[in-house]
Amino acid sequence: MTKAAFIGLGVMGYPMAGHLATAGCDTTVFNRTTAKADQWVKQHGNSRALTPRDACTDKDFAFICVGNDDDLRSVIYGNDSVLAGLSEGSTLIDHTTASAEVAREIEEEAAKRGIHFIDAPVSGGQAGAENGKLTIMCGSDKKAFETAEPIMKIYGQRVMLMGPTGSGQLTKMVNQICFAGLLQSLAEGINFAQRAGLDTEKVFDVLSKGAAQSWQMENRATTMSVGEFDFGFAVDLMRKDLSICMAEAQNNGAALPVTALVDQFYQQVQMKGGSRFDTSSLILNLRE
Ligand SMILES: NC(=O)c1ccc[n+]([C@@H]2O[C@H](COP(=O)([O-])OP(=O)(O)OC[C@H]3O[C@@H](n4cnc5c(N)ncnc54)[C@H](OP(=O)(O)O)[C@@H]3O)[C@@H](O)[C@H]2O)c1
Repeated sequence: MTKAAFIGLGVMGYPMAGHLATAGCDTTVFNRTTAKADQWVKQHGNSRALTPRDACTDKDFAFICVGNDDDLRSVIYGNDSVLAGLSEGSTLIDHTTASAEVAREIEEEAAKRGIHFIDAPVSGGQAGAENGKLTIMCGSDKKAFETAEPIMKIYGQRVMLMGPTGSGQLTKMVNQICFAGLLQSLAEGINFAQRAGLDTEKVFDVLSKGAAQSWQMENRATTMSVGEFDFGFAVDLMRKDLSICMAEAQNNGAALPVTALVDQFYQQVQMKGGSRFDTSSLILNLRE
């Protein structure tokens, strides 16, 4: 039986770890707030550990899904950490959205111990995690990817190797860059339609069959029109991701004028108390 550890039972990690258990992996979870780990064990059986090290000891695979680069470092390094628990030949898969730089740093540390590392950020949100239909963008060598691909397919609808270490995170950055501009355009379109006195339902019904069609238009236009912003991926997390994109762009010279502007718009949403609103809440800035 495949033995797995899962570190970080948040909105994304909790259901992902659940899919591993349901698929028959011998799964040990760790969560900083232990009540969540207790709840997970109550729901899925298997076991929980009190440190990342204990969770990872004697495992074939360890998965991590925490917040940002610093959170990642705090579970990866140190006496009670993931790297202290894993053995030579095991594979560490990181689903956190983090920088490409931290991915390369962890790969180097893992390689010193004979541990394979894959940066594997995800897209698809809470619903994708719960339904086991995530898109997973991976950075690693081919051998590590081929070892881990079948297990990631338990909750990944599309699992793809994008290139060497860091390439998964770089691909996720492209996703967030495209996503940010698109949401602002959609917010402007909805606001314009409303101020023009159009029936927004009809507008987006017809437009969603044409060239301006997008997943956001099909799934968020109606809820944005009525001011509902309770659909998962939060403004705070989006700003964390955009800051990673902008830092990387300083390294590679890419211009991100719209991304930088939309980041400021998200800051305005935060200032209006919308830190936990979902990313479609950009339309709030256009309401005054
Ligand atoms: N939510 C989405 O729709 C979505 C979509 C795609 C990608 N992502 C990315 O996936 C990652 C996780 O997102 P999420 O929505 O699951 O976040 P979340 O609900 O806030 O959960 C974060 C998890 O990380 C743990 N954690 C945070 N800092 C830690 C630390 N320093 N040490 C130990 N554990 C720590 C938290 O433990 P506690 O329970 O103790 O706080 C919790 O289990 C993020 O990088 C996010 O950007 C999220």
